[in-house]
Amino acid sequence: MADIQNLESLQTPGAVFFIFGATGDLARRKLFPAIYSLYREGKLAEDFAVIGVARRPRTPEEFRDDVHRSIQEFCRYKVEDTAHWTRFAEHFSYKSLDINNIDGYVELRELTESVESRFGIPGNRMFYLALAPELFGSVSFNLQKGGMLSSGGWHRLVIEKPFGYDLLSAQKLNEELNQVFKEEEIYRIDHYLGKEMVQNIEVIRFANAFFEPLWNNKHISNIQITLSETVGVEERGGYYDHSGALRDMGQNHMLQMLTMIAMEPPSRLYPEDIRDEKVKVLRSLRPYATPLEVKENVVRGQYTEGESMGKHLPGYRQEDKVDPNSNTETYFAAKVFVDNFRWAGVPFYIRTGKRLPVKTTEVVVEFKQMPTNVYLGQKHTLEPNLLVIRVNPMEGIYIKINAKKPGSESAIEPLAMEFCQSCQVGINSPEAYERLIYDAANGDSTYFTRWDEVATAWAFVDRIAAAWAQNPGDISTYSAGSWGPEEAAELLAKDGFHWWPVNGQEEDNVIWISRG
Ligand code: BG6
Repeated sequence: MADIQNLESLQTPGAVFFIFGATGDLARRKLFPAIYSLYREGKLAEDFAVIGVARRPRTPEEFRDDVHRSIQEFCRYKVEDTAHWTRFAEHFSYKSLDINNIDGYVELRELTESVESRFGIPGNRMFYLALAPELFGSVSFNLQKGGMLSSGGWHRLVIEKPFGYDLLSAQKLNEELNQVFKEEEIYRIDHYLGKEMVQNIEVIRFANAFFEPLWNNKHISNIQITLSETVGVEERGGYYDHSGALRDMGQNHMLQMLTMIAMEPPSRLYPEDIRDEKVKVLRSLRPYATPLEVKENVVRGQYTEGESMGKHLPGYRQEDKVDPNSNTETYFAAKVFVDNFRWAGVPFYIRTGKRLPVKTTEVVVEFKQMPTNVYLGQKHTLEPNLLVIRVNPMEGIYIKINAKKPGSESAIEPLAMEFCQSCQVGINSPEAYERLIYDAANGDSTYFTRWDEVATAWAFVDRIAAAWAQNPGDISTYSAGSWGPEEAAELLAKDGFHWWPVNGQEEDNVIWISRG
């Protein structure tokens, strides 16, 4: 088997990585481990430095200890060799900073120049703001005012969702950023785009003569995208109660996945060509014209108490930092149309929710039935063919076809042929954040969301949110640990379809042939 890790061994150009919010959860769980993995794989050479920035005071040693702990706990590589660790750790410095105080930025500049000269870094600076979005504007402004953007190399801003609360707030935020950074310097992370199998959707589509000719309304009856989670809102009740599933997962991850499934093949694999195609899909989404259309096509739900694997689970309204009368949705499912030649008439059913029975991200492409069933005389109904792309936590694809039951005269049964990528590559598959940090450092913005994508996605989602806001109490419920409100099943049943079982719930009658 080829060693997938070694296929890309290009090193990033020398740069200083600033992690604002360096004492926070994202830095600890994702960013430090990602940087360490890149170093371990030789993708970061010795001409790099990391400067952690946060309000809390920390000595450089304390900061390096934090980084060490985070790697041991969350990284797919562990620190085993002390000399190797010391060489890595000396690239890390820390600056305690009140982000509103301009003097601090001047000191930060001095520190930066000293690490740049120590490690021979040519002035390239990447600012990763692991901060609340309200702070993006003022930090950008202060970076400029404090002289942090006057070095000779490139300057890039990397930010996380949520990018605004609606189109209006997103526009305001974007205008603030644009006063300092050009669009091509802004890398908006949607971590789903960093997932191996999301990136693989393009390859499966555009590199296989099997699929691309069938990838349209003549052959596909519907597409289902599921992003289900078993977790509740954990300690994020405060944020989540304000956001809800539509804004937390729908505006970004779900619509981004939909664009990858539905986009036209780009003429070239340049970031802008790919993003042009993605934004065309978003522009083709059929807007819901009235609140009634929203009601007919979008289901929202909130979990009540329930049970999963013998464990009692509280209802959403009982969660910490959640309003006990909250009407925030923890689940939504929608029927969406992409109004263009390729997809006219094909429903895309999308659903996401917290406290569902399994954690999985899956795309099911259901093909149309054969024009006629020649086996009907023998009383065989034929199941539709499926192509299933498993994104998370299992990675792989399978196709479901109909085949003759071995040894029988005429029995036909569904057969699933599976390629389980995670079984082969296992935990060595690079994490989304590794890819994204690596790409941003190389100036590759393909898997980051461009402003027009963000804006168009908000415009679509805003109509749903506005309709819901007219009638906030009109929300379905589902027991924690179940598959969501019944209305979500009806959404498909009305069209003669059903949600296909996802990961871990395969139907019994299917024969599995696996490679992996
Ligand atoms: C985040 C959401 O963007 O994605 C979370 O804010 C959600 O609510 C998470 O849990 C899911 O990501 P993943 O990679 O675990 O599927």
